Amino acid sequence: MDLIPAPRAVEGPMRCGFLFDRDTTLWAAPGTDTTERWLRSTLGAALGLPLRPGPRDASNSVQLQLDDALEPEAYRLDAVATWGVRIRGGDPAGVFWGAQTLRQLLGPEAFRRAPVRSGITHGIAHQSIEDGPRFRWRGLLLDVSRHFMPKDGVLRYLDLMAAHKLNVFHFHLTDDQGWRIEIARHPRLTETGSWRTRTKFGHRASPLWEEKPHGGYYTQDDIREIVAYAAERHITVVPEIDVPGHSQAAIAAYPELGNTDVIDTTALSVLDDWGISTNVLAPTDNTLRFYEGVFEEVLDLFPSEFIHVGGDECPKDQWRRSPAAQARIKELGLADEDELQSWFIGHFAKWLSARGRRLIGWDEILEGGLPDGTAVSSWRGYQGGIAAARAGHDVVMCPQQQVYLDYRQAAGDDEPVPIGYVRTLEDVYRFEPVPPELHEPGIRHVLGTQANLWTEVMEDHARVDYQAFPRLAAFAEVAWSALPAPAERDFADFERRMAAHYGRLDALGVAYRRPAGPRPWQRRPGVLGRPIEGLPPNT
Ligand code: ACM
Repeated sequence: MDLIPAPRAVEGPMRCGFLFDRDTTLWAAPGTDTTERWLRSTLGAALGLPLRPGPRDASNSVQLQLDDALEPEAYRLDAVATWGVRIRGGDPAGVFWGAQTLRQLLGPEAFRRAPVRSGITHGIAHQSIEDGPRFRWRGLLLDVSRHFMPKDGVLRYLDLMAAHKLNVFHFHLTDDQGWRIEIARHPRLTETGSWRTRTKFGHRASPLWEEKPHGGYYTQDDIREIVAYAAERHITVVPEIDVPGHSQAAIAAYPELGNTDVIDTTALSVLDDWGISTNVLAPTDNTLRFYEGVFEEVLDLFPSEFIHVGGDECPKDQWRRSPAAQARIKELGLADEDELQSWFIGHFAKWLSARGRRLIGWDEILEGGLPDGTAVSSWRGYQGGIAAARAGHDVVMCPQQQVYLDYRQAAGDDEPVPIGYVRTLEDVYRFEPVPPELHEPGIRHVLGTQANLWTEVMEDHARVDYQAFPRLAAFAEVAWSALPAPAERDFADFERRMAAHYGRLDALGVAYRRPAGPRPWQRRPGVLGRPIEGLPPNT
């Protein structure tokens, strides 16, 4: 049955099974309405099945219910020959993840948006699956600043995440190269900050430019739609508004946010090159009030516990040269510019905490000290995460050496834009989010893990797909399944299951990187994902 991510335990499958037909009904107990809607709109549409509401315990039905005996996000799926399918979840999300498994069991056609054949019945073999996640934070970061992804592409990525049981969408909304979220009280953030006049083509070292404007942004209603669409799929959207570095687009829109005593910030435009801008926010009261206004609107739009404030890669040159910044350091009794950054982040940590939220930032926020209750995204390897977890901070492990999916997937000249380390599918499969140096109670602070898609070299969704897949499938298994230690992981078995999974990705229209050589799923036509033959009718 080739499930990805692999479930905890399976009994079966047997040679008999259950066939869906137009009379198959759907009973959804209280608390399972998101899955009820998803099954009808997704599976129902793909297979041409109405899945009409039916009674509890009816035969020829799908039954959804909560079960207190299961943990959060865990589920149990029972497919019973001649009777139907029952999915029980420890919470509404668990039922939903169970439904994702059900779709995989039905084969690639269940991943289309409309039926491609008539008169075919879809069956699943008699079996029981028990499953639940290893980590509660199974994240994907999408950078929509370097290249804007129009809203429909974002919704599509939420669907792809759900199909892989990923549940945190880290939405990287602002950076030097573009501001992508409408802020009503500061309209120039998007009027000016969401467009750049040209774009460096390819790698930072490339001499080529694409000489046309690039930009776009999400209105607040777009954001509400994205957040609601994610919530229907049990995905939390964690917005990132990057401060005090990675802020040139904001400074281009509102020059007073920059270090005006060091450079003429009115001459700045949205950055058209890659790399890290030295134009960072000025540590003034005006900047703090401005961003409190931004975050007020962000909190209204995003219900997530965590709000990401960036905090990474903030060059301190301008603060060193700025009399105003130096005066601020003195006035606050700080030792240096690192402590000034820490003060800046600390201000927003307190501000968010007073509003019932928690700050999360990149591991640089550890430099100079970090308030209690804040969390860290460990990207410069594991070290930041280890230090943070030992100090009692929650941590999301996303080390660039392992799970930056913008990095190339193979050596050689065939990859579209050769950046970063080579990170193969197998490398990602052998990624371990909890490093061996970390012990209890630190381990308990690892909320989970996240793969990051930075989009400097990904100008459209086909390129994003290419970088993300198939590696995101391996990542999803690392985040969800209780895999053994990296060296003991059965990559051959994962590859065997991937053969079926590529069929699902094909049906979804994902432009993944094709494995070299003949594709095994093409050499075995008619076997994978096809209706099971010889099953008895379900009535
Ligand atoms: C990062 O990659 N600068 C978080």
